This record gives sequence, C-alpha cells and structure tokens, in this order.
Amino acid sequence: MEFFIDTANLDQIKEMQELGIIDGVTTNPTLLAKEGAEPNEQLKKICEIVKGPVSAEVIGLTTEVMVKEARELSKIASNIVVKIPMTKDGIKAVKILDKEGIKTNVTLVFSQNQVLIAAKAGATYISPFIGRLMDNSQNEIDTLWEMMEIINAYDFKSKLLVASIRNARHVVEAAKMGAHVATIPFAVLEKMFKHPNTDKGLEAFLKDWEKLQNQLKNK
Ligand code: E4P
Repeated sequence: MEFFIDTANLDQIKEMQELGIIDGVTTNPTLLAKEGAEPNEQLKKICEIVKGPVSAEVIGLTTEVMVKEARELSKIASNIVVKIPMTKDGIKAVKILDKEGIKTNVTLVFSQNQVLIAAKAGATYISPFIGRLMDNSQNEIDTLWEMMEIINAYDFKSKLLVASIRNARHVVEAAKMGAHVATIPFAVLEKMFKHPNTDKGLEAFLKDWEKLQNQLKNK
C-alpha cells in the first residue's frame, strides 16, 4: 500500500519524507489556502521535496477550463497529478487528459457508481472521501469495500486512493481490502507510529539495563 500525505504544509511533508514513509502528496484548494502562499509556487516546492505523485486540483467547472488548467498545472513538474471533480464535465476532461498522457485523480467521490464511471473514463486515481461519508452517518468501510470490489472485478487501471481519512483505524481498514493508496493527514501518520506499550516497554528495558550496569560496577 502506498502512503500519500494529505497536506500542503512543507514542514509536515519534509518530516515524513525524511522518515522515508511517504510515496506522494495530495493537496486541495482548502489545504493550499491554509498555507497562504502562491499555490503554483507552493506546489513546485512540494514537487522538489517528493518525487512521487503530487495532486493539484483544478478550479474551473467546465471541461474546457479544466483541461486548460490541467495542462498548465502539469507544467509545474513531471510528478503533478491533476485532481478533477467527479462531475459530467470533469469526466469528459479526464478522458481528454488520459489521451494526452496527463495523470488524473478524480476527487469528491462518494458512491460506488461514481467509482465505476471514473474508472471507465480512465482516471489514474479515484479518491473516495471516507471521512465525509462517516460524517454523513453512512457506513464508509462497507462502501469502500464495494468500491474496491468494482475496481478489481474488471481489472481497471485506476488506483483507489482512500481520502478524507480521519483516524488510524481508517488506514487499517483500507489496507485490509488492498486499497492501492491511502492519503493520510500528518496527525494521523504520527498516531500510526505510537502505542503506549512501546514507550512503557522501552522505559523498562532501559531501567533494567541501567540496573545491570550498576550491579556489574559494584561486583
Ligand atoms: C484529499 O485528496 C482530499 O482532498 C482530502 O483527503 C479531504 O479530506 P477532508 O474531508 O478531511 O477535508
């Protein structure tokens, strides 16, 4: 399973990149707005840190504008993947961009039928927003299983990129079903490292080691 980090913050990206655990980055207009920098400059900096896929989203709503924006975004760096919203115009744009060899990430996906349509259009990645499904009292895990079944049933080339992850359990569930990618917020990545027994165990080992050293000194 590939791990992407779901942020546009350079410090967070650098920290996880240095740990060697991330394969790519996803951004969206909200995440870029949080950083307050010129978006294309920020994306360029992100692409310099991470060599894997970096998702950047179009703002336009018509196929024509989306395709134009996608061509511009893909000039920022060779690892840019263009995020396209799951609309009729978006799907038309995905087909055009696929033919041009521009990688796409169909975003704001909430249903199994949307996955099927995006896969048929030739999306490189498809991003179901599981946290927002959960917020809407829908069973996000069952929905995700069915999405994965659909991708596997027809051997589509699209990769399921699990997005809107809210907790470490979401990552486990995505991994259990063999989802290709999980895009994970920094805070959740941090939690995935930790278990209270790891800290307690380490403390006890070090204490016992020190005890032994003192015993040996006093022999
Ligand atoms: C990533 O591709 C998505 O834009 C992001 O995961 C959405 O997460 P949110 O629902 O927490 O805003």
